[in-house]
Amino acid sequence: MSSAARGLLCRFGLGHVEGLTHFQPVSHPQSSPLLKIQILTIFPDVCRAVLQSSILKRAGEKGLANLEAVDLRQWTGDAHRTVDDAPYGGGPGMVMKIEPIDKALAALRSPDSKVILMSPQGRKFSDAVARDLSRERDLILLCGHYEGIDQRVADHLIDDEISIGDYVLTSGVLPALVVTDAVVRLLPGVLGDDQSAQQDSFAHGLLDHPHYTRPADYNGWKVPEILLGGNHAAIESWRHDTALEATRRRRPDLLGESR
Ligand SMILES: C[S@@+](CC[C@H](N)C(=O)[O-])C[C@H]1O[C@@H](n2cnc3c(N)ncnc32)[C@H](O)[C@@H]1O
Repeated sequence: MSSAARGLLCRFGLGHVEGLTHFQPVSHPQSSPLLKIQILTIFPDVCRAVLQSSILKRAGEKGLANLEAVDLRQWTGDAHRTVDDAPYGGGPGMVMKIEPIDKALAALRSPDSKVILMSPQGRKFSDAVARDLSRERDLILLCGHYEGIDQRVADHLIDDEISIGDYVLTSGVLPALVVTDAVVRLLPGVLGDDQSAQQDSFAHGLLDHPHYTRPADYNGWKVPEILLGGNHAAIESWRHDTALEATRRRRPDLLGESR
């Protein structure tokens, strides 16, 4: 059975399907907080603005996640709190030094920690990777800046390297926040309805179906008639068909088809 077919069966509640372990709802053996995430960065204030807003903030308040922005400059030893230096061999830009990062990780790491370097050279982030990470207990997301980070950090101090896409940002702060947001929303209890994350795009190999709310008619643009009646089986069937159609049209690769 193809993964798309398995995804369809599972998405529309047609029974347990073997081999779909990463699509199962997240479960944790212990009670809260389910996950601790420390974002290690030279821009902690940028992180805090996001961590202290909306759903991420509420996840912290409910004790479901412990989210923290940590200032890397705490582990510098000079008056200028220097975290970078010129590259060996010459060339443009500055390189982040290994010493402050090593000291920071020594202080922040626990036996459960998984240290992830945000890097355009890492493995590609996806819904499946987010679901795997949501089963961890303790993540440290290390953000680069400038031209990058001394290679010995990636070689000796981290457990994983993740890219959020094939483009280069000025720092790892936004990638770390992207990963944090995508992972935390999967933790049970974080979204208003735990079913939401199970029905979103990619959760079962398809894009999501369209959503509508009041008014039923806006400037003559009407909500599909079927959603206005109370026939739940017909609505489920419509949602299935529109999700499949959207996936086929926009992302045939998810169905194993070519464009
Ligand atoms: C300007 S980038 C360095 C790019 C590096 N010279 C290269 O070409 O691979 C500075 C930092 O931003 C972060 N970063 C940039 N783009 C990223 C991406 N697509 N995914 C994850 N992190 C990224 C990384 O932490 C990186 O160390």
